[in-house]
Amino acid sequence: MDQRLSKSAEEWRQTTARRAREKAKERQSKFVTSSNIEVPDLSTEEDLRDFAPHEKLGYPGEFPYTRGIHPGMYRSRLWTMRQYAGFGTAEESNKRYHFLLSQGTTGLSVAFDLPTQMGYDADSQLAEGEVGKVGVSISSLEDMETLLSGLPLERISTSMTINATASILLALYIAVAKKQGADIRKLSGTVQNDILKEYTARGTYIYPPRHSMRIITDIFRYCAENLPRWNTISISGYHIREAGATAVQEIAFTLSNAMSYVQAAIEAGLDVDRFAGQLSFFFNSHNNLFEEVAKFRAARRMWATIMRERFQAKDPRSLMLRFHTQTAGSTLTAQQPDNNIVRTAYQALAAVLGGTQSLHTNSRDEALALPTEASARVALRTQQILAYETGVADAVDPLAGSYFIESLTNTLEEQAWAYIHKIDELGGSVRAIERGFMQAEIEQAAYEYQLALEHEQAIVVGVNRFVTEEEERPTLLRVTPEVARRQKEKLAALRLRRDNLQVQEKLQALEQAAAGTENLMPLIIDAVEAYATLGEISDAMRRVFGEQHEFRSLE
Ligand code: 3HC
Repeated sequence: MDQRLSKSAEEWRQTTARRAREKAKERQSKFVTSSNIEVPDLSTEEDLRDFAPHEKLGYPGEFPYTRGIHPGMYRSRLWTMRQYAGFGTAEESNKRYHFLLSQGTTGLSVAFDLPTQMGYDADSQLAEGEVGKVGVSISSLEDMETLLSGLPLERISTSMTINATASILLALYIAVAKKQGADIRKLSGTVQNDILKEYTARGTYIYPPRHSMRIITDIFRYCAENLPRWNTISISGYHIREAGATAVQEIAFTLSNAMSYVQAAIEAGLDVDRFAGQLSFFFNSHNNLFEEVAKFRAARRMWATIMRERFQAKDPRSLMLRFHTQTAGSTLTAQQPDNNIVRTAYQALAAVLGGTQSLHTNSRDEALALPTEASARVALRTQQILAYETGVADAVDPLAGSYFIESLTNTLEEQAWAYIHKIDELGGSVRAIERGFMQAEIEQAAYEYQLALEHEQAIVVGVNRFVTEEEERPTLLRVTPEVARRQKEKLAALRLRRDNLQVQEKLQALEQAAAGTENLMPLIIDAVEAYATLGEISDAMRRVFGEQHEFRSLE
């Protein structure tokens, strides 16, 4: 035992701690994190006995990046304050983006409605009731030009939360940038483009896995050659967590999906260091503050090791896990909505202590409806207070060396590796998803949490404790049916105005290419520039790829 300590932790437990417990027993018989990892009565340096600081910790900006991907972290540059926003028509969303920029947001983040995400135009039967509801309705280059009007695409980075139709939205973004006279090589932003988590947790997929992976690797190749500053994918743990996964599952399933993308790109003939620096990630920041900080640190260390050991990546940029964080939507309550401001603040603190590159803070009313300007502003101010008033951004990885944080980081890493090895045995993420393995694990975790809530082992303030009868109802932002009507009128006029012969030619060329192995991105760009619509382009690929329906459960 280290001489610096007067006694061992065990001696302390048998003397001082025992006496204290005789007077007042602990609030719970056991304390656990969301991943059911026991929180000990005390962490000491004995818990880090096998902890090799330089191998496990390293320095910020150096392998394995546990302490952050940049040497100076937020001392050099704050994280991007990137508020997810979009609803109704392109005009309404464009207005919100200008509002957010006027309030100090430093990156754009576009939310699309379900028809846009699922490859249906606003006037499709299958879009009924959803047009403009959970995001902005985009069916054509005309809509995209309105959405991005007045926004300096060469100077601002734009994230687009789009998966199955990511290739089309990226093509639309490029087409608008070209119309603005921008140098597309300077465009920076992200398409989420993470179809595997759609199969597992979110559901907005169109095509079967093999064809989806082909479109994704076409985007990798196109961006490697033409858009060097574009993040080609945002491999997401956020929605996996929102579906009920634990922190360990969030790390493991996200990194397993990431390995499937890397493997697919290599099999498509891409050199790992050619595309890996343009991969990015997207995580949840949930309620258990220390577990979330440890989660981000463990994920960074694991990804650096995976890329160096499994894929022999050499370029340091290929080893750095660069990620966006959104505070946990699933923790927001409809009851006592002001409590959500506090929850979000703590979750934002965890993301910053964990070294995020970009952050969205949820609004107080997001459990009920789309955020109003007032609630979106408080959400952004939460980040600005964190950045400019708390001092947290001035220290690099300040929790490093904490007995509890480092042992929690180790335990999360260890348990995440166990899942990754299990998924390896199943044949990787795609096979694991097809067998329903990840889905079953998430459902089990969600069920256990629900039980804990019902037995009051898990407390949600205002919901199963500290409930108040009178409920003030915040003013809600609603999307009216007027949106769908206006979108349909615009599409009808567009279809009359455009060169339909040229549109048909472009769609046929795309359909032929989809049946072959040619990179689809240039053909999709041609089609959008001829004002082919998102639905028409998606249908051209549906005719070749077919559609993916539910996966059978684990046999
Ligand atoms: N020292 C030196 N340089 C630094 C630095 C530092 N401390 N910090 C940043 N930089 C540099 C970077 O290297 C980069 O330089 P480059 O442009 O030359 O590459 C530049 O500053 C910008 O930094 P980042 O690239 O780290 O920051 P971005 O914000 O541009 O990108 C990202 C962050 C995570 C890589 C990117 O992928 C991103 O923005 N992702 C956002 C994804 C997103 O918003 N998703 C929302 C999804 S919403 C959703 O799905 C939920 C819904 O379904 C409910």
